[in-house]
Amino acid sequence: METSKEESLVVFTPSGHRDYFENGSTLLEAARKLGVDLDSVCGGRGICGRCQIEPAFGEFAKHKINAHKENLSDPGDVEINYKGRKEIKKNRRLACSAKILGDLVIDVPPDSHIHKQVIRKTVDLTDLIIEPLVSLHFVEIENGVDNASFDLLFLSLQEQWGLENLSNEIRENDLPASNGTYTAVVRDGESLVAVWPGFKDQIFGIAIDVGSTTIAGHLCDLLSGEVLASAGVMNPQIRFGEDLMSRVSYVMMNKGAENELTEVVQEALNNLVGELCDSSNTNREDVFEVTLVGNPIMHHLFLGYDPTPLGVAPFTLFEDKAIDTTADNLSIQANPATRVHVLPCIAGHVGADTAGVLLATKPQQTDGINLVVDVGTNAEILLAGKGRILAASSPTGPAFEGAQINSGQRATPGAIERVRINPENGKARFKVIGVDPWSDEEGFLDATNKTGVTGICGSGIIEVVAELLLAKLMTADGVIGGEGTNPSEYIEPDNRTFSYVLYRSPDGEKTISVTQNDIRAVQLAKAALYAGVRLLMDYLETDQIDSIKLAGAFGSHIDTTRATVLGLIPDCQKEKVSSVGNAAGSGAVMALLSKSSRKEIQTLVNDIEKIEIATEVAFQDHFVEAMAIPHKTADYPFLSSYVDLPQKNESTKPKRKNRRNKERN
Ligand code: FES
Repeated sequence: METSKEESLVVFTPSGHRDYFENGSTLLEAARKLGVDLDSVCGGRGICGRCQIEPAFGEFAKHKINAHKENLSDPGDVEINYKGRKEIKKNRRLACSAKILGDLVIDVPPDSHIHKQVIRKTVDLTDLIIEPLVSLHFVEIENGVDNASFDLLFLSLQEQWGLENLSNEIRENDLPASNGTYTAVVRDGESLVAVWPGFKDQIFGIAIDVGSTTIAGHLCDLLSGEVLASAGVMNPQIRFGEDLMSRVSYVMMNKGAENELTEVVQEALNNLVGELCDSSNTNREDVFEVTLVGNPIMHHLFLGYDPTPLGVAPFTLFEDKAIDTTADNLSIQANPATRVHVLPCIAGHVGADTAGVLLATKPQQTDGINLVVDVGTNAEILLAGKGRILAASSPTGPAFEGAQINSGQRATPGAIERVRINPENGKARFKVIGVDPWSDEEGFLDATNKTGVTGICGSGIIEVVAELLLAKLMTADGVIGGEGTNPSEYIEPDNRTFSYVLYRSPDGEKTISVTQNDIRAVQLAKAALYAGVRLLMDYLETDQIDSIKLAGAFGSHIDTTRATVLGLIPDCQKEKVSSVGNAAGSGAVMALLSKSSRKEIQTLVNDIEKIEIATEVAFQDHFVEAMAIPHKTADYPFLSSYVDLPQKNESTKPKRKNRRNKERN
């Protein structure tokens, strides 16, 4: 095509938007007219660097375009002298400076989209498209050095950005002094929430998962979606009770204690916000959005609601919808315009953290029957399939956090986290947190001089019990040294039962053993989880699970094979069982960065079938059967294909399942 004509054809890829534009107009003008997803904060002044495009030159038969280099203006002073924070990458141009002189094919790279796809970092945000809730707009006010006013600012936002009928949420009466240029922060395209003198191109948000033990947060750039800092603090409510129910009892027994628990958790949230800002050199004033998730009791406490109805049947939530409030209301210091969005709770025992898990894992979007479990002192269970999503919470107790276990401890340096037992002699080799070599490898002794070998954490407990079964040192009923087991020097009498010696220090001073009581505690915990899952399978009328995702900090450290051997989770194809990390936190980040994620999760939560395990008779039956390892009656064909499971004896062979065909609620 000729380039001397008045108008030229411009095609934007990958969107395919195309039209004719007057020669001399900028590519940003063309993109805006066509509705191309191309970012800009400075409004085309060549200072933000967000409008970068990549021109493609050559013959494009598909578009019927022959794009010569001279079809685009050469870089002028603005681009040559550009010194913005976002570097102009090789072969790219600023769309606001580059002028159309002939037919062009222009690629808009993903990082120049307003609705960017997030880069995976510490949280898994696969496939998330950013839909910012707040946007930045740079404006120049004519004669603005001595003549700036809100009226003129609104007029400039209308003229320069097409923003009409904005409401004003700023408390100040006057604009800050400036050289006549301002950056406006607009929420949802509807209200002006902040204004800064001069140019600014970053605003931030923080997503927080309030756990009963730890509170974890991520600070994100709200426009790029990048996770810039992650941090965690202990939940200071621990001093009122290790587990949730003891905190609720504390509130029940001490008048006004709910205020005390609310104050300390809000203080911790505020400190965490400070820590995240400090570690990323961010000013609190530049944080505009906060999202929060947490189990129902945490949710009620950080919002200042009475948690006591959650301590007794029927476990009524004060509020089951998403909540929008201000940071100020939760005593979080940030910008006066900072909003807090709390994801909805699902049921009395299934909280906003599980809503976050659902948002991040989307089990309903995969074919088949898909299970997601967040393992903690309560196991939150989501089962999706046949167009339905079911949710429940099962009381696993603190065994997997190391409590109620003879040598149990939290997952800190020195804790045994991995265990393998030699079936020939019953000797264990293991790995401790904070030390690279295994216990039978060179360097182990030196390395553990610092950490010590201090106890067993949750993942170690799961592994040691599964390994005891595989090494035939324990029966399927969970009896250490029981009938038919192999003799071993590591099985020692312990009153009227036996214990297994996992570790003895070289000087003989310290012994870490697994007792018969420990095995019972693990059996009770794993049976509660399995029975909860099985109950949801009954509701969904299925005997098979097609995929399993283990969420939560603990879930990420579980060896999925040994968790299946233990019978913590049902049988499933090996490659379909995976750990998904802190999915609740990822869900909170998604809700932080995307408006539609917020809508999506509220709609899903409205439709979820909530199963209250405590009132289900069948739960008890399932629980009893799940006490055996891996299970009294269930078959494990997938697991048996890659693990040599001990034969079931006659009394524990599979029989017809006690399956109920309960009507849907
Ligand atoms: S729009 Fe800001 S540099 Fe082009």
